[in-house]
Amino acid sequence: MKNHGIEIKNLQKDFQDVQALKGVSLKIDKPGLYGLIGPNGAGKTTLLKCVSSLLVPSAGEVFVNNQVVHTKDFSIRSRIGFLPEDSGLYEKLTAKDFLHIMAGMYGLSKEERKMRVKEVVEYVGINYSPSKVVKYLSTGQRRLLLFASILLHDPDILILDESLSGLDPINREHLTGLMRKLAEDKIVLFSSHILADIWRLCERIFVLNNGEMIVEDQPENILAQMSDDSFFLIPKNNLDQVKAFLETLSYVTNIRIQHDKIIFKLQNKSNISNLMKSILEEYELISFGPNIPDLDQIFTRMVNAS
Ligand SMILES: Nc1ncnc2c1ncn2[C@@H]1O[C@H](COP(=O)(O)OP(=O)(O)OP(=O)(O)O)[C@@H](O)[C@H]1O
Ligand SMILES: [Mg+2]
Repeated sequence: MKNHGIEIKNLQKDFQDVQALKGVSLKIDKPGLYGLIGPNGAGKTTLLKCVSSLLVPSAGEVFVNNQVVHTKDFSIRSRIGFLPEDSGLYEKLTAKDFLHIMAGMYGLSKEERKMRVKEVVEYVGINYSPSKVVKYLSTGQRRLLLFASILLHDPDILILDESLSGLDPINREHLTGLMRKLAEDKIVLFSSHILADIWRLCERIFVLNNGEMIVEDQPENILAQMSDDSFFLIPKNNLDQVKAFLETLSYVTNIRIQHDKIIFKLQNKSNISNLMKSILEEYELISFGPNIPDLDQIFTRMVNAS
């Protein structure tokens, strides 16, 4: 069993007068997908760079595989694959040469380089000619190339900053598929503004706001905490009449109309079948279910509450 893990203890990072991180702690001790979300300027990139040993913390400590991260310690870097948000590529090189140079930087011998470049090109599914010049690659093609480049040294930990932004749904699905596969035996920590991906993929979500960790939990727990136990129904017609009907039922409370939906609470969930029976005797419904706020609303609520 490998000694996998990231541990951050009271991490602070100041840039002149900006406190980008104000004492953040987190612990990840097993392979899986972990999501980092937060508004622009929350400190996500700063945190990911501190873990990847590209920034020196102002205070606190970062451990990777139980070793303290130092910017000059290359043994740690060799265990991490970091995909930056805004990476400069060597524009004039071909995709293949770029991978060879990156493999060289990771210390792979000529023979190993050849083999690994071929392997990662196949693994990530680069579907354009590797002799294409980097300058002429599309956003999706570049991302795939960068993704391939951070796998060359077979790291245990992948740190991906906004790796899914700017991709079309097919490429996003492709990349998330790879991330899932890699997360079977690696820690994959990634930031994204695409909340649906984070929610769908991650076993744990970290929410940063203003340099502080405001929430850390499993997606389903965050949803449960943020949803307020209300239900919705969409009548086929007679919206106002259905609302008036609900108002006559003592066990239905907090009734309001939102667009074409009626939102309400039940005193007890066991009232559901009674409710359905009495409504359906009089009215037709298009839909009914628990009223889960959308992810953007949850995000905004979490940030505003902190
Ligand atoms: N090199 C730097 N010099 C000065 N300030 C910086 C530097 N890097 C980051 N900051 C500041 O630190 C704060 C956190 O920035 P960071 O890039 O970590 O945010 P983020 O959560 O990644 O935002 P985004 O979602 O927009 O990528 C911001 O106020 C930013 O202006
Ligand atoms: Mg960022």
